[in-house]
Amino acid sequence: MRAMQPTIVRLERFERVASTQEVVSAWLAAGTPEVCVAVADVQERGRGRHGRAWEAPPGAALLVSLGFRPTWLAPRYAWRLGGIVALAMLDAAEAVAWLRDGALGLKWPNDLVADGPDGTLRKVGGVLGETTSEAGRLVTAVVGIGVNVAWAARDFPPDLAGSMTSLSVLAGGRPVDRDELLAGFLERLESRLAALRSGRFDAGGWSARQRTTGRQVVVAVGGREIDGVGEGVDPDSGALLLATDGGIVAIDGGEVIRCRVM
Ligand code: BTN
Repeated sequence: MRAMQPTIVRLERFERVASTQEVVSAWLAAGTPEVCVAVADVQERGRGRHGRAWEAPPGAALLVSLGFRPTWLAPRYAWRLGGIVALAMLDAAEAVAWLRDGALGLKWPNDLVADGPDGTLRKVGGVLGETTSEAGRLVTAVVGIGVNVAWAARDFPPDLAGSMTSLSVLAGGRPVDRDELLAGFLERLESRLAALRSGRFDAGGWSARQRTTGRQVVVAVGGREIDGVGEGVDPDSGALLLATDGGIVAIDGGEVIRCRVM
């Protein structure tokens, strides 16, 4: 029988860092094996997707980066690392914040969202994946996830207040513990990672969580906007499938900028 590979070989908590992505990238560059995890209370230069900044008041969000050496994963499936991180966090967040199953979902590709009262989606968290490769093989991957946990609605930045929320707001003001969330997340990640290492991915779970499915969606892709109705996602390529006037389109890069209940 083959011994199970340990999931977490290094986990460190920091009060303040530039970005947990940078911490973990440096660890991997120095030879730390997978999976190494950095958690911070405050990031001075937190990074989001599309070169954006990621900001949260001290202690209001769970800020984590995980370092992988995914030589065991085909490069075309690199997106699945972000997928398992997002799915493990959704399950953990619903459990820890006492939300009903399915209260949280994904806005393609990897925004953690809840339904807003006005038919739009409110962002609870996001995932950022950064990989390095050599000779067509993945060498390292750093997957960062930020989740708004103990962030009161009155403290949301005014320009984002209509598009974001937090677990404590969704829990009706009940306190939600960041350490409990982290523990629940890492525990749930273990089985998802073991499955991925063996070539299995929870395509059904990933598809079921997509909030774009069956909704009117606008996606920004390379300077143009594509609108259509969400037809699901392709669990092989990770693409978003949209029914447009010109037929079904598979979108494998870009950002959903609008998504409404029809
Ligand atoms: C996004 O939705 O744009 C992705 C946000 C990712 C933020 C997390 S917080 C922990 C890690 N460190 C960073 O600098 N970014 C990621």
